[in-house]
Amino acid sequence: MRLWWRFLPLLKPYRGRLLVTFLATLVRPLLNAAKIYLLKLIVDNLAQSPTSQLALIICGAYLLIALVKGGANFVDQYYGAFVGGRMVIDLRQRLYDRFLRLSLRYHGEHRVGESISRLMSDVGAIEDLLVSGLTDGLSQALTVLIFAGMLFSLDPRLALISLLILPFLFASLVVYAQKSRVASREVRTRLAELTSTAEEGFSTIALVKTFMRMEHEETRLRERGMQHWKARQRVATLRGIFVPVSDVVATVGTVIVVYFGAQALATGTLTIGGLVIFLGYLGQLYTPLLGLSRLGNTMQGGFAAAERVAETLDLPESEDEPRAATCPWSVLLPEQAASVPALVFDHVTFAYKAEQPVLRDFSLTVPAGAIVALVGASGAGKSTAVALLQRLYDPDNGRILFFGHDLCEFDTETLRQRLAVVPQEVSLLMGTVRDNIVYGRLDATEEIITRAAQQAGVGEMKLPEGLDTHIGARGTRLSGGQRQRIAIARALVREAPLLILDEATSALDALAEERLRTTLEVLRKRHTILLIAHRLSTVRTADMIAVVDGGRVVEFGNHVSLLARNGAYAALVQAQLSVDVMQQTPMVSPRLPSPSLFS
Ligand SMILES: Nc1ncnc2c1ncn2[C@@H]1O[C@H](COP(=O)(O)OP(=O)(O)O)[C@@H](O)[C@H]1O
Ligand SMILES: [Mg+2]
Repeated sequence: MRLWWRFLPLLKPYRGRLLVTFLATLVRPLLNAAKIYLLKLIVDNLAQSPTSQLALIICGAYLLIALVKGGANFVDQYYGAFVGGRMVIDLRQRLYDRFLRLSLRYHGEHRVGESISRLMSDVGAIEDLLVSGLTDGLSQALTVLIFAGMLFSLDPRLALISLLILPFLFASLVVYAQKSRVASREVRTRLAELTSTAEEGFSTIALVKTFMRMEHEETRLRERGMQHWKARQRVATLRGIFVPVSDVVATVGTVIVVYFGAQALATGTLTIGGLVIFLGYLGQLYTPLLGLSRLGNTMQGGFAAAERVAETLDLPESEDEPRAATCPWSVLLPEQAASVPALVFDHVTFAYKAEQPVLRDFSLTVPAGAIVALVGASGAGKSTAVALLQRLYDPDNGRILFFGHDLCEFDTETLRQRLAVVPQEVSLLMGTVRDNIVYGRLDATEEIITRAAQQAGVGEMKLPEGLDTHIGARGTRLSGGQRQRIAIARALVREAPLLILDEATSALDALAEERLRTTLEVLRKRHTILLIAHRLSTVRTADMIAVVDGGRVVEFGNHVSLLARNGAYAALVQAQLSVDVMQQTPMVSPRLPSPSLFS
């Protein structure tokens, strides 16, 4: 019931059309009853006195009924589909919006396939519940009422006797409904798992091929398929048992009527035509009753789906990524803020999972207009610091200040508009190079796009159709370095005060990297740059270098001072150099690819 009230308001915008659909649905049982009644006229009256006038009236009535029913059917189909379809769009939109705002933490714990099945099949099941469920239910309930009324008006005693079987019919129906609710929920869960498995196979297709895991994936899908099949089989078995059982019960009802109806014929309380249509009404009374049970099935599925959708919509706000708070950005224009550091990590502690801190007492100051490099072994926590900076997560302890203001003071939209991030894992969308660059800033002018593309080295990629070249799904038609250049261009079009490059140069060749360094030199006049990199050639030109180890900054200074300090940075550089010597490669030169400092 609670779920009804929850989702019924979705129909509100379409209530006019829904009303028309309802009216059309309600006309049908009336017409069906009238059509059966015509039989009585034929058997009792027309047979007695075959006057052509009565015959004409009956013929006309048949035609009229067919026409009106046809019209009602059209209205029912058309507007039913209209309302249902629009409701699906509205609900799916709301749910998708919710999903997109849920935190990375949430998405990390849930399979994509599950979320998709919630978005698609669960929303569809709610439509069945609200639209076809409501209209079918109403039409069937009305049929039961009208037809039962006809039975009583024909012969109350016979009607009572024939309805004796109803309790039995209902009992079997209730048992069936309960069992099928559980079973159909299982089917949906298994289907979601099946979808997830296939989705994972497709999204890792290159990996599957590299390791020749086709058979393994096939087996996995088959196992899921078997589980799904078993669940469906249970539903089919339940229905397989219920339908014949209710059929037999209904037949018992018919048998009773024939037996007692014959007596009523003899005593003259019922005409032949009366008995014929009595059987007609009775026969068509069971159909909507069984229909109601099938409807029960739809409704069980619908309720199960509605529960899951409501669960997602009702997730507490703590499951969302942080939003909250407002700070007038105007006070933070970079020009005005030049005197305060662009970014301060102030004793930040953070754990993805409780008790396993990834950042411990992480402190770092990035002066406005500077280029600061973060270096350190994989897993040290560099990308995590970038995630916190975007408020993908909030620190457990400590503060992060952005131009002097705690990040919590901004709503995420305001904040992220001021950040341009090239993430460590490049994600590209299906479409052209231009589509992917513009994704960084939807209102970017042609001039900005061209400049960003040029600065990121996209122009040199010798793309067959320039920026309008299609890059395939997830950029599969590009090399790693090419993907990275597009990701950099996408960040550059934002012209945001803080530019963050998280190992954004790892796949670039030396020339492209050199160009990027020149670009950064140009940008630094108006932007602050946080650079996570491994290559010495990139790192050494930064104003400041922070060495991250075990979730904290252990050393901070420029290349020369850190070398002189002879600490962690010097050790890392030394390790780098000895690798160079062993490989007998010339010392780091900006024109040659330099091996990684740390990896
Ligand atoms: N989404 C996540 N959930 C749980 N643990 C994570 C997640 N992302 C990273 N980690 C863990 O946090 C640590 C730091 O990761 P990260 O910040 O990506 O390191 P870096 O970028 O310095 O290589 C790693 O030990 C990693 O296992
Ligand atoms: Mg990283």
